[in-house]
Amino acid sequence: MAVPLLDLNAQNQKYANDLQAAFSRILGSSQFILGHEVTSFEDSIASSLGSRHCIGVSSGTDALVLALMTIGIGPGDEVLCPSFTFFSTAGCISRLGAEPVFVDVLPNTFNINVDDAVAKISPRTKAIIPVHLYGQSADMDAVMELADSHGIKVVEDCAQAMGARWKNVQVGTIGDFGAYSFFPTKNLGGFGDGGLLSVTDPELAERARTLRVHGSKPKYYHKYVGGNFRLDALQAALLSVKLDSLESYINQRRSNAEYYHSQLSALGFGDKLMLPSEADNCRHTWNQFTLRIPDGRRDDLREHLRVCDIASEIYYPLTLHQQECFQNLPDRPCPVSEQLAGECLSIPIYPELTTELQDEVVFSIADFFKKLRN
Ligand SMILES: Cc1ncc(COP(=O)(O)O)c(C=O)c1O
Repeated sequence: MAVPLLDLNAQNQKYANDLQAAFSRILGSSQFILGHEVTSFEDSIASSLGSRHCIGVSSGTDALVLALMTIGIGPGDEVLCPSFTFFSTAGCISRLGAEPVFVDVLPNTFNINVDDAVAKISPRTKAIIPVHLYGQSADMDAVMELADSHGIKVVEDCAQAMGARWKNVQVGTIGDFGAYSFFPTKNLGGFGDGGLLSVTDPELAERARTLRVHGSKPKYYHKYVGGNFRLDALQAALLSVKLDSLESYINQRRSNAEYYHSQLSALGFGDKLMLPSEADNCRHTWNQFTLRIPDGRRDDLREHLRVCDIASEIYYPLTLHQQECFQNLPDRPCPVSEQLAGECLSIPIYPELTTELQDEVVFSIADFFKKLRN
């Protein structure tokens, strides 16, 4: 039986009537950008996250850019970010003319190693972007301590982690900003691109709202040079239909992760097959279930799964400090990131994944390692 990485139809079709009703409402209203639908979505999500200010934007990438623009990041500034993350985290820094300073990650959580961040901080450092990779919070106590002691801003990259918690507090509401994505693969998957910026300080929130519309306030009077980072009304209306289900998606992902843990650890392949774990103080949302396959066997396992019709993905095959576009930056080693890029393999974990399909995945992985033994 084929196992996909994601089954969006299984998730979205059950809301077909409500989604169509939302579409008709927007069609009839002719208010396609921002407006009441966006404001009402922002309010609902702010209360579900326990955030002070939520600003709907055009993508997770734009949420990051907007956060950095709001604090005035530009040429001459440095921003710390992990080397093992999606490109967007660092691309946003470079696009503003600042320099991403790549920090290594921890092998057990895949998240930023704050000791390495401390070693790489300089008088030019203006901000840090901890990424809550694969749906699990970075060590936010350590991040906030570093930020407070050096007077720098914290922009949490929560693209993969909406609903995750650190010490029972929602990620994205701990630092100065939280940037979320509604890309269809995310915990709250939209119907195209979309994102959200959560802001703690009211003045920064006001500035971010202004920057979202080309820095104009009132219209056609430009206080700052901003951009077009607006969220569509249709996207907000469709996402509003799914918002109440976010908790159940996360619970389903958590129960799928638990099942994988019980089944895969019972196989007894020890260090040949390393399972991801939920760290202390974290409520993992399992946006990804990412294995580590050492000894250069990751690609062989991936090929074996492909032959068995089981989808998998490598997030990410190359670290950011190794990307061609960043070769002009000073050499700052991140050996753990490089190691993980060669070992990581994400297997299907989406909420609608059935036990039967998970058994297929487990069976194929077991088959691969048994064949190696023989
Ligand atoms: C860690 C991380 N940051 C930022 C983004 C950017 O989000 P978007 O695709 O909505 O621009 C993503 C999306 O994949 C991501 O995974």
